[in-house]
Amino acid sequence: MPGIAGPSFRRALPTTDGVRNRSPVTSTASQQIALITGATKGIGYATARELGKRGHVVFVGARDPERGMKAVTDLSEEGIDARCVRLDVTDLATVEAAAAYVDTEFGRLDILINNAGVSLDRPHRPSGLPVAVLRAIYETNVFGVVAVTNAMLPLLRRSEAGPILNVSSELGTVSFLTDQATLTAQNALLLGYNSSKAALNAITLVYAAELHDSQIRVNAVSPGFCATDLNGNRGIRSAEEGGASVARQALLADTPTGVFIAEDAVPW
Ligand SMILES: NC(=O)c1ccc[n+]([C@@H]2O[C@H](COP(=O)([O-])OP(=O)(O)OC[C@H]3O[C@@H](n4cnc5c(N)ncnc54)[C@H](OP(=O)(O)O)[C@@H]3O)[C@@H](O)[C@H]2O)c1
Repeated sequence: MPGIAGPSFRRALPTTDGVRNRSPVTSTASQQIALITGATKGIGYATARELGKRGHVVFVGARDPERGMKAVTDLSEEGIDARCVRLDVTDLATVEAAAAYVDTEFGRLDILINNAGVSLDRPHRPSGLPVAVLRAIYETNVFGVVAVTNAMLPLLRRSEAGPILNVSSELGTVSFLTDQATLTAQNALLLGYNSSKAALNAITLVYAAELHDSQIRVNAVSPGFCATDLNGNRGIRSAEEGGASVARQALLADTPTGVFIAEDAVPW
């Protein structure tokens, strides 16, 4: 267990969360249980791999079970204890079923990484982005994070630490958005994506404030500009580098809550 200062295990047990109130399964008490949404590829997969290589049990959140099983097979071949969990963050039934599955298997969750994300803006200019597309981006990048976080919170409360990391982007940073030259130079006029990450940043801070008396730290993390399907593989870092960075932050014992973590010191 990471050396997080915080409430004792027993104090952290929920009493009125509507989920079975039971002690964590002792046989896995020394093993950390992590759930990564959107872990079939890209940064999410790389994060799962990094955590798995460090001995964590990793739940691979996958909206498509076949892609999820492929990821789990690949991770298992590296000796990682990976489990596929069907989880479409836009589908509340799968979110709730995923929480029930983790509960049945381990009775707690030690790390939640809200990684699943989409960028559907291209090829539209901001003023031409159909509202239906904007809504679809928010369903995943914003509402999905809230749905998963709320469903997993009772399990995280049963962990000694239970950090939540929201995978965000400097494209959601307000000071970046105020720099029109940078925005246009980087072809980052993404109305849906950028504003969804700005909303995610605010959501991160609000959860951090609500949970500040608990042991659960809630932070945003930027993996850097990574070459993945999300951006047509135009990033300057690899997905492996991005995932390693996210995993490293998830394992830090002394991170405060309510911060935006990035190697290049991204402001909110
Ligand atoms: N790449 C970058 O430079 C960069 C920079 C900053 C932040 N980020 C953030 O990093 C995260 C991962 O992005 P990536 O670059 O690794 O992109 P990616 O390679 O396209 O991977 C996105 C992942 O999210 C999953 N996903 C999409 N919609 C989902 C849904 N409704 N429910 C569950 N899973 C869903 C995808 O599953 P499928 O396999 O089913 O498609 C895939 O596993 C995103 O939040 C992104 O905004 C990326």
